[in-house]
This record gives sequence, C-alpha cells and structure tokens, in this order.
Amino acid sequence: GLYAAIGWFKAPKCVIAAMEYVTISASSWALRSDMRFKELLPSATSRRSWSFSVPGSLRCMATGIPFWSGRKAEKPQSRVDSMPMRNSKEESQQAAHGGVRTVVVPAAGMGTRFLPATKTVPKELLPVVDTPGIELIAEEAADLGAERLVIVVAPQKQEIMDHFGEFNVLQKRLLNRGKEEQAEKVSRANELIDAVAVTQESPLGLGHAVGCAEPALDAEEDAVAVMLPDDLVLPIGVMDKMVRVREEFGGSVLCAFNVTPDEVYNYGVFDVEDAERDIEGVEVKKVRGMVEKPAKEEAPSTLVATGRYLLDRAVFDALGRIEPGKGGELQLTDAIELMIQEGHPVHVVVHRGKRHDLGNPGGYIPANVDFGLRDEKYGPALYPALKEILAEFEAEHPEVLEREQQG
Ligand code: G1P
Repeated sequence: GLYAAIGWFKAPKCVIAAMEYVTISASSWALRSDMRFKELLPSATSRRSWSFSVPGSLRCMATGIPFWSGRKAEKPQSRVDSMPMRNSKEESQQAAHGGVRTVVVPAAGMGTRFLPATKTVPKELLPVVDTPGIELIAEEAADLGAERLVIVVAPQKQEIMDHFGEFNVLQKRLLNRGKEEQAEKVSRANELIDAVAVTQESPLGLGHAVGCAEPALDAEEDAVAVMLPDDLVLPIGVMDKMVRVREEFGGSVLCAFNVTPDEVYNYGVFDVEDAERDIEGVEVKKVRGMVEKPAKEEAPSTLVATGRYLLDRAVFDALGRIEPGKGGELQLTDAIELMIQEGHPVHVVVHRGKRHDLGNPGGYIPANVDFGLRDEKYGPALYPALKEILAEFEAEHPEVLEREQQG
C-alpha cells in the first residue's frame, strides 16, 4: 500500500521527467537544425521580412539578411561601425548628396545563356580567372566608398550570399597549412563590404528588381548606385566621375558607351545633347530621352547604357508608376525616361574605356583571357599558350585570316 501511494506521487514526476526529456530532445534537435542552417549561411544571424507596393498589383516580398548583426566581435570591424556619426543636417545632406552609401546589385536572373552550368551555380559566381564576377563588383563598390551591397536575388539563388559569409574553418585550415595567400582570398569578400540580400520573388524585370531594394535603404540616402554584375566597366572609376557629375548637376547620372548601329537593339539607348557646362576630365552629356532596346532604325543614337547607374531616390516613385515595357517587363529605362519627361535632370558620363559582358559565354571568355593575361601567376604561361592555339586555329581555318584582311 505504501509503495502504491509512493507510486502515485512518483507517477506525475515520471510523466514530467518524460515530458522534460521530450522537450530537451526537441530543443536540442531544433538547435542542431539551427546550427545546420548557420553552417549553410555562416554569418546569417537574423532575418527580417517586409513587403511593399510596386507598380500596379505586383507585390514584392523582400527578405533582408543583415549579415553580421550580433556577431560584430567575430567580424573584422566594418567601415559602417567605424564611421563617425554625422552631427548636423548639412553634413548629413552633403554626405548623402556626394557619397554613395549603398550599391544595388540585381542578381536574380536565371542565367539561361550559361546553361548547363547555371543549373547549380548562379552565373554571378562564375569566376573571372579565380574570382566570381560578383566579388569584382563588390571590389568596385568598396573602391567607390560604398558600405553596403544590396544584392537582389531570386528565391532559388540565395547561395550567392554565402560567398560573402565567413569561412573561419576553411581559413584556419589554410593558415595551419601555411597557405596565407589562399586564406586571404577566402576572407576577402567578407571583409570588402557588408552584403545584404533582398529577394525578388518573380523575374519581373530590371526595374522591378531595383524597386525591391528600396526598403533596404536608409531614410537619409537620397541617391542609390546600381551596378549590373554582368558588366565589367574598365578601368574601374567611372562611378567616381558619375558622382562628380551628380554633384555638379544633381538628378541622376548614367554611364554611356558607344556601340555600332547593329548592336543598339541589345541596350537602353540615349538621346543626348551637350551638357550645360564642361567638367574637367569627364565627357558628359545631358540626356533628352531614353529608349529600351530599340530597332536600329529607331535608335536615337549609338550611345547605350552600360551597367552603372547613379539614381536619385525619386526613381522608386517613377518605378511605381510605369507599366510593363519591352519584353513585358518593368524596365529601369522606362522609369528613367518618365523622370526625364517630368523634368528630372539626367546626364551620362561617356566611357571611352573597355567593357566586358559577363552575361553570356561570348563576353565571358574574352574577359577571362583579358584578366588571365594580366594575372601575374597565369599570364606568362597563358600568352604563349594562346598564341599556339591561335596559330593552330588559323592553320585549320585560313578563311578567318582572309576575312580579317578584307576588313
Ligand atoms: C539591361 C538594361 C539596358 C542596358 C543593359 C546594359 O539590359 O535594361 O538598358 O543597356 O542592361 O548591360 P539587359 O542586358 O539586362 O537585357
């Protein structure tokens, strides 16, 4: 009887103990899954979601991954942390007007021209020699003085962000083996700039992608830079000129490149006139209008938009008012054209340098040859190897030389 009575008292404790066991197991499982998640996205410690209205009935869910929040001790101090606070409105306006804090990188495209590679690897992670195109863009943005890269990604392309995470285990392993140079390559993307992801749920066009980035901007940012990761504009530095032009004329500034009349149908094309004033060392034009991918006969010029934009914040309002354009997509060009028609000043810096289009194999291969030849490790061997390949090809295809001689 005594044991039965004790059993009664014990029973609930057993139940409690069993429940505790289940709870502890469940939470340790959850912790383990969380750890698994964190291994996949090494630096992601919190996620924020928000939604906002974009043109017509379209809605875009944006998910921000503020990469190092809560892990500042582990991360090398970023320039955001070390920036002195602005203490007056004028200072703040000055900084926002001249400087670029955020660079938006639309990277949600499907990469169809790179299939089958892009079945599993986002095209932005394909390397130029050994460095993914998106890291080259991050370098250019950091060089401009930007603090944050807002990368617009598709839901199935979140692994682009992994490239900007910390890889402590790999780095330690490399350092333990005396591979300092490789360890430095591993940490470079993480140290360059703060990368934040914004998700574009559906591929509704470049204009829509840029619109998705608006919630990630700070209230005092009155301009935003956009860099298309497909475009390498060389030598680096055209954005600095664009910042100077915006300081002089206000409004928005784009980068123009001269192409042949047969190529204009691939681009946004500018209708230009002389700028109000010259700016030393910068070829600048005022834009009267802009049209997305016109037929050769309808193109207003052969000056086309390359992937560098310095846009006034007013662009988000214009993006909210345009209708789907070329290809049924919301085009950034159409928003800029709307702004021009409403009196917003738009200028272009005419770039006379080089441009590589990493968006298709036809441009990606020459970019690799160009960067490869200039690489101190691979260049010396690549040069004779290329000459040999060319000589062999010319012997097999004498018609290419004849065609070249005919001009
Ligand atoms: C986009 C723009 C186009 C611009 C081009 C530059 O086109 O819509 O105006 O000239 O980038 O690369 P996409 O190449 O995405 O078709």
